[in-house]
Amino acid sequence: MKKILFVTSELHPLIKTGGLADVSNSLPKALADTGQDVKVILPNYRALKLTRNVQLRSTFQIGSHSVQLLETQLPDSNVTVWLVDCPEYFGMAGNPYVDSVGNSYQNNPERFALFCRAAIEVAMNRADLDWKADIVHCNDWQTGLVPALLSLELENEFCPKTVFTIHNMAYQGLFNGLTASMLQLPAELLLPDGLEFYSKISLIKGGIAYADKITTVSPTYAQDIQTHELGYGLEGLLIYRNDDLTGIINGIDDDWNPETDTLIAQKFSVNSLHDKVTNKTALQSRLNLPINENVLVLSLISRLVEQKGIDILLDCLPQLLNLPVQIVILGSGEKIFEQDLKQFATTYPHKMALTLGYDETLAHLIEAGADVFLMPSRFEPCGLNQMYSQRYGTLPIVRNTGGLADTVVDTLPNTLADKTATGFMFDEENAGTLLETIKRALLLYGFPEAWQQVQTNAMNCDFSWKRSAAQYLDLYENID
Ligand code: ADP
Ligand code: GLC
Repeated sequence: MKKILFVTSELHPLIKTGGLADVSNSLPKALADTGQDVKVILPNYRALKLTRNVQLRSTFQIGSHSVQLLETQLPDSNVTVWLVDCPEYFGMAGNPYVDSVGNSYQNNPERFALFCRAAIEVAMNRADLDWKADIVHCNDWQTGLVPALLSLELENEFCPKTVFTIHNMAYQGLFNGLTASMLQLPAELLLPDGLEFYSKISLIKGGIAYADKITTVSPTYAQDIQTHELGYGLEGLLIYRNDDLTGIINGIDDDWNPETDTLIAQKFSVNSLHDKVTNKTALQSRLNLPINENVLVLSLISRLVEQKGIDILLDCLPQLLNLPVQIVILGSGEKIFEQDLKQFATTYPHKMALTLGYDETLAHLIEAGADVFLMPSRFEPCGLNQMYSQRYGTLPIVRNTGGLADTVVDTLPNTLADKTATGFMFDEENAGTLLETIKRALLLYGFPEAWQQVQTNAMNCDFSWKRSAAQYLDLYENID
């Protein structure tokens, strides 16, 4: 049995901005199911949605800050969650990273440095908890200082092994050089083979340079980040560390299951696919779209940012809205995308429904009710919605990149014939190709038997966390 401290800046259903929160909920549970002793550690943001009892476990000092460690559990399991409480850093009402108008908090480096230092105290059994980690599993730049600072304690017999998972190379935690002295980082960490990055400091580099093992969330993205295009200047270091870098695809949580989902209008399974249509009409009715069982409903649920190819979709919307389809979009993000989408939705209220904001319940109804899910991402480390979609017989249209390439099988004559087709894929990053691919889906939709076969193939895919958790466990066990 391994003692694993899972260090994360988001955790569904307590606080979520993206897929990291889903992974932070599901992977620890899946590891606990294999008999590991897993604790999750997270900042005690004011916005946390806590549903279980919270207890004070210990109080300790990080620099001039007094930190309280609180304990609770994941809502639907007994996995322990430790919350690092420091109101001067985590007491703001909003999002973990940005204020209400979308600007990063000025003191993000100090906030996450304190979080990392607190995680180290916990991992090394210096927080009065009578628990010591064998493995510290860190996620994204917010936790990058953990492997970096632990590298200074390698002589200590309590020093745990470290794993650093990259969920997205595009967010690097880059700060100006002055940050290093503000954070009181020792000079030996600031060399070019350490945190230094073109006269700045890069917190993601702390994870990549110092962790014992590096993972990212799909095999294809593990290759992608070793290229100039998607390595963001760190491709050289990633190539250098290639032997310690693996891609492990995320799984999906049991919450996303049309047979048991309580948030949808009508449960269904691969054996009762005809019941899916009740969700389609419920979705149309909820969004004030004309009720029509036969029209192809396209959907998208996403952060509205460039990564997700929202501009590619916007560029083909004028032609798309001339096709016999309805479009359902749920998302929030960059104001320019929100405004442009709003303009289309206002002009075409009978064809397009836009919901700006974050809405878990609607997300489930969309997955259950739509026919097609769009993910024209420029890059995608893993992506979860294309897997949720397949589980709900909602065929994904994805760009051939990262985790999308690893989880969707394009519908072609041969994949139709051998029953492996699960969606539609395109290579080029442009609106014309997306539109052509949507037309391909529309064509197949005209052949209900073939469509249902692809739905069945998709619904039968195994995206369980069990498989991925076994790969992480294997990795933990093989760190020397
Ligand atoms: P990323 O982490 O890059 O945003 P993922 O596909 O890994 O992309 O995960 C996104 C997660 O966030 C999914 O669970 C998706 O359903 C959810 N999500 C994104 N935007 C919204 C929204 N506006 N409302 C509800 N859920 C959303
Ligand atoms: C990131 C990526 C997404 C991935 C998620 C969880 O947010 O953008 O592709 O699914 O992390 O690993």
